[in-house]
Amino acid sequence: MKKVSFALFALAMFAFTGCKVSAPGGAETKLMTTMKHDVTIGGKNDKNPTPDTADTVKEGQEHFGHHCQICHGMDGQNTGVPFAAKMSPPVADLKSKDVQDYTDGQLKWIIDNGIEPSGMPGWKGILSDEEAWNIVRFIRHLPAKGSLGTPAIFKEESEEHEKMEGMEHNHKGGDLKQHKLQF
Ligand code: HEC
Repeated sequence: MKKVSFALFALAMFAFTGCKVSAPGGAETKLMTTMKHDVTIGGKNDKNPTPDTADTVKEGQEHFGHHCQICHGMDGQNTGVPFAAKMSPPVADLKSKDVQDYTDGQLKWIIDNGIEPSGMPGWKGILSDEEAWNIVRFIRHLPAKGSLGTPAIFKEESEEHEKMEGMEHNHKGGDLKQHKLQF
């Protein structure tokens, strides 16, 4: 059930952004990036109150796995997300310089408020402050592109079925790849 509503959600987002005008040209994009970094995105001087440790990164990774991987992929670099490049604007690569150039406070602000107008939703009220700050920690320590594979929801049904069966017999626990998507 959950899976179905998730797929519908993704489709709805796709349909919604699909009817927008095509992506802006190079110069305009650069201007937009500068505008976003310097003007629109708040929180520039907010300090991340969570410690920068393996534990907070792992916490952040788990929340990322639940809420963000449907668009950003498990590695934050859109791996295996079929519509990522088709959204307008496309789903950002979180390891790119543009994104890494934001301060922690700005990343937290983006997670809270989303980016308007685009497909990036805001998460205030869904994620606690601490959860959002931990996700920022994870964004600073993203794994190598492709190293975590494709989100389960985008895998072939049969492949996923096989994996599910394997999981029942061989449940290791704690492995992010085995988390079911949920909202
Ligand atoms: C429905 C799809 C979707 C989901 C879910 C989603 N994002 Fe995004 N995200 C986008 C898109 C599309 C962009 C590009 C927006 C832009 O460039 O204006 C984006 C951009 C971003 C950016 C960069 C913004 C910039 O200015 O370049 C960050 C950081 C980000 N997302 C973090 C997250 C986090 C963390 C989560 C989970 C809490 C998340 N996103 C969930 C679609 C999504």
